[in-house]
Amino acid sequence: MSVTNFPAGAGSAPTGIPITKVTVPALAEMKRQGKPISALTAYDYSSSRLADEAGIDLVLVGDSLAMVVLGHENTMAVTVDEMLHHTRAVRRAVRRALVVADMPFGSYHGTVAEGLANAVRFIKEAGAEAVKIEGPRVELVRALTDAEIPVVGHLGLTPQSLHRMGGYRVQARTADTALRLKDDALALADAGAGAVVLEGVPREVAAEITAELPVPTIGIGAGPECDGQILVFHDLLNLTFAPAAKFVRRYADAGTLIRSAIEHYRQDVEHRAFPSDEESYHLPEAARKSMAAAQKAGMLRKA
Ligand code: KIV
Repeated sequence: MSVTNFPAGAGSAPTGIPITKVTVPALAEMKRQGKPISALTAYDYSSSRLADEAGIDLVLVGDSLAMVVLGHENTMAVTVDEMLHHTRAVRRAVRRALVVADMPFGSYHGTVAEGLANAVRFIKEAGAEAVKIEGPRVELVRALTDAEIPVVGHLGLTPQSLHRMGGYRVQARTADTALRLKDDALALADAGAGAVVLEGVPREVAAEITAELPVPTIGIGAGPECDGQILVFHDLLNLTFAPAAKFVRRYADAGTLIRSAIEHYRQDVEHRAFPSDEESYHLPEAARKSMAAAQKAGMLRKA
């Protein structure tokens, strides 16, 4: 048991940030006002609640969970059911941020009808407020938009294209590919995408796309001119087990903190230093006395 509920009637997060729901139109308004959008991935109740309380605008239940939570080598293996399970947990925690669910590999790569049916599940069964899909899938974005499902596009280094790309490589490094990326971004926006994630692309390319796109760009490894930035929760806090990519900034070393706290706990258990008397429940004095009396009487009966 652990108490995790929201205090009744709280109108602001513990950080004092007022709870005004972030929506897809609100993101567009932020772009218009030149207000940077903060986005972070999260995959469970406690981490997404912390992100929300810290004032993050967009929480993405990223398919990166396949790697950082489930320990897979890449993002390909995670299933729709697993993504739904985590999206539900995030949904329960987040009150202010926009909750976006990543559609996993294979869930939208067939027909538009299949992609639509899977996207509906994220909205209906998990409470997502938008879905994210990788690649220039303009027809699908149009169909989802027509079905009232907000879509976040994702272009550039798209991890679900790992095998086609032949590795996690920065994309759009030539004039041709940069222009194609820009066309793709404009086509996604034209089809109704509410925002576009730009991952692993040169700063100059992302800046130009950001300037021309009518909807916000959210960058990861795409330079500071994007309308917003997103990082993977585990990268930001050093909860990964590999050197960080160039674009990652570690804001804390939670890995070291957690490991040392757990080591300390283990040592306390081994030395019987945990739990202490203060951390133990006690039998009330009266109950203790009557228990002793009952035991004594029982012994007398047996004798
Ligand atoms: O799954 C993920 O974490 C993502 C972000 C890196 C954009 O798609």
